[in-house]
Amino acid sequence: MENKRRRLEEAFARYMPLIEEPQAFWQCVFEPLQPCLWVNPLKTTLEAFHAYCREHGILLEPISWYPGAFRVPGLERPGATLPFVAGWYYVQEEIAMAAVVALDPQPGERIVDLCAAPGGKTAQIALRVRPNGMVVANEAAMERLSGLRTTVDRLGLLNVVVTWGDGRRLPLPEGVWDRVLVDAPCTGEGTVRKMKQGWRPVHREFRQYCSALQRALLRRALQLVKPGGIVVYSTCTFAPEENELVLDAVLGDYGVVEPFSVAGLRSAPGIRQWMGKELRSDVVNACRFWPHLNNTGGFFLARIRRTDVPMPPLGKVSCPGRAPLQPAQRLDGIAWLCERFGLEPELFAAYRYWMRGREKLWMAIPEVEPPVELPPESVGIALLSYKREHVKPKTFALQLFGKSIRRNVVELPEEQAAIRFVSGQSQNVLTDVEPGFVHVRYREFELGCGLYARGQLHSQIPRSLHTMIADHAGV
Ligand SMILES: C[S@@+](CC[C@H](N)C(=O)[O-])C[C@H]1O[C@@H](n2cnc3c(N)ncnc32)[C@H](O)[C@@H]1O
Repeated sequence: MENKRRRLEEAFARYMPLIEEPQAFWQCVFEPLQPCLWVNPLKTTLEAFHAYCREHGILLEPISWYPGAFRVPGLERPGATLPFVAGWYYVQEEIAMAAVVALDPQPGERIVDLCAAPGGKTAQIALRVRPNGMVVANEAAMERLSGLRTTVDRLGLLNVVVTWGDGRRLPLPEGVWDRVLVDAPCTGEGTVRKMKQGWRPVHREFRQYCSALQRALLRRALQLVKPGGIVVYSTCTFAPEENELVLDAVLGDYGVVEPFSVAGLRSAPGIRQWMGKELRSDVVNACRFWPHLNNTGGFFLARIRRTDVPMPPLGKVSCPGRAPLQPAQRLDGIAWLCERFGLEPELFAAYRYWMRGREKLWMAIPEVEPPVELPPESVGIALLSYKREHVKPKTFALQLFGKSIRRNVVELPEEQAAIRFVSGQSQNVLTDVEPGFVHVRYREFELGCGLYARGQLHSQIPRSLHTMIADHAGV
């Protein structure tokens, strides 16, 4: 602890002249962060969530400036509960929610999230642009794509296209998007309260690398957004080199930082001077959220309005050699789903279906147009897969339609059975369902796909969720 304190004091000494109440800052950074979450209206209601928390003795402190979001002190592993698996909520650092408040997405808009994994802000945006808007959620790190995909699936977001590409050179049409979010990779100083294993000082070279990357990402966002559209630039670091200096270097005549504030959220203005360098005047409209101001992590954001000054285009860029997703020709799997689970075919009429190759069928709202220039990883959520003549339903699709399913449902009798199921284990069950794929429910939780054979229920819950609940403490 002494070491951590000393290292932090050295690393953050340069910020002390910027902080009005340094003592409050120091007191705050050594306290752990409280977990926060927001409730997903696509999978549950606030009433049902409150009822669950009351029953389980979970204290909820509403976050005044973000309707439907709560601090959950005492809930140590919010990712290890049945409502989490059922997609009832998303766990997100409180202050990170502010970036989408600044972006202010509107219904029907088409928005790019340039650095999207693991997808918290993508999900916030997707919910706000409903019923007919869409989000392109892009991520450069292949190993982080599955986390992003799981967020989209678990929350049931039918208006998100996931792409894999370098945000600096993303081959999307320029000047047409309503809003673009650049939640940039950074040195992460603002996450200091999360770091259990101690604080490592940021190397100068890494800071320089981040700063160059951030400039290129912001430049690309300004190329993509339409004139008059909004770009939000955010980081979870304090460093002016990654914040105001990035704005100063890139904005030129192409964008103006607008004032942004939310009632109930305190922030410090962007700074006009750093290390003897004078910066453009509108950077004062940016917001720096020191941890002690709202008892959160640290964060920086700027809400930028694009002017109509043309930017030099990026020019021709190549994209990864992914085969494009095509409108699905084979829809017999939907008829099978309706028959097997007693679902009304009309439920599926409102969507469009996409396939790559012959295996997986994706389902999205009709307004989603996958970009042709950048073949996406996914469009909406996976509904089912075909294995020769067999159809396998996907867990998250069954969750989404769960309340309408009337046939071949296994209702688990007790919580331990539900925990076994979502942990990926097989178990004996007493049921009169037909052998084959079933939908599994525990009380009000639509849990997803199982395979029932010879008295045994085999879990088909994706592996990505098993670890979250495996040592579930009985929440
Ligand atoms: C701060 S995180 C994004 C968090 C995310 N917006 C959320 O709310 O869940 C930054 C992300 O940018 C990704 N990244 C790094 N370099 C990138 C690049 N050149 N283009 C796009 N994404 C990049 C990182 O892998 C990381 O997932």
